[in-house]
Amino acid sequence: MKNWRVYYERNRAERSRLLWHGETTWKRVELPEPIRTALIASLATFEVGESGEGKRLKAGALTTNDPDYCRAIELFLNEEHDHAAWLGKLIDALGGEHLRNHWSDGAFVFLRHMGGLQTELLLLLAVEMIAQAYYSALRDGVPDEFCREVFARICDDEDKHVAFHVDFLRKRFARQRWIESFTTRLLWYGVFRAACVVVMMDHAPILRAVRVSPGGFWQRTGAIFRHTSSQIWETPAIRVVERSRL
Ligand SMILES: [Fe+2]
Ligand SMILES: [Fe+2]
Repeated sequence: MKNWRVYYERNRAERSRLLWHGETTWKRVELPEPIRTALIASLATFEVGESGEGKRLKAGALTTNDPDYCRAIELFLNEEHDHAAWLGKLIDALGGEHLRNHWSDGAFVFLRHMGGLQTELLLLLAVEMIAQAYYSALRDGVPDEFCREVFARICDDEDKHVAFHVDFLRKRFARQRWIESFTTRLLWYGVFRAACVVVMMDHAPILRAVRVSPGGFWQRTGAIFRHTSSQIWETPAIRVVERSRL
């Protein structure tokens, strides 16, 4: 976990050099309708999700007695808060309104609190995988250079977040018996797919606007799940670290 702490510290220093990071207001972003309205509504939901305090996650990290992991979790949460801030500024730049809360975020927090650190991380990872598919769709489909730059940066962060949680969970699950790992993967897949359906329904207008069909989103998220799941249960730890390009 020391490598991850170092990664997050470096990433923090590096992101402070982004021209738009830390700016209180961004210049107005012009997008054609209906993509503008669809993007505002969609980003407002993700802004709520990215802004969670993570108190329980921090408390769970403390139980590992690993100061590097605790610090990495803290810095990871800071990155999610940066994402929330960037989405918030994009909503302002697009002339939209913010949401205070969203039912899907409440349901997700409720589920996360039903188990221990591993359950919490698996559920968090499910959302991170959906975020990988979602932000990459926006990066590739929103017709504005600045928006794409912001989404590309979030995509890079989310790829590393997935690798970070994978690295931790891989070690945690290393001694699982096959029946335990089979059951965990099956339940996890069920929750993941339920979350995919919610996102596909709730964010259908923006996905349509960036030309991602329901079938395409389903396939993309499925591929991400298979890859991530195999890294947790089938890949030696060293390869996970190599792939994350620390
Ligand atoms: Fe994020
Ligand atoms: Fe993330």
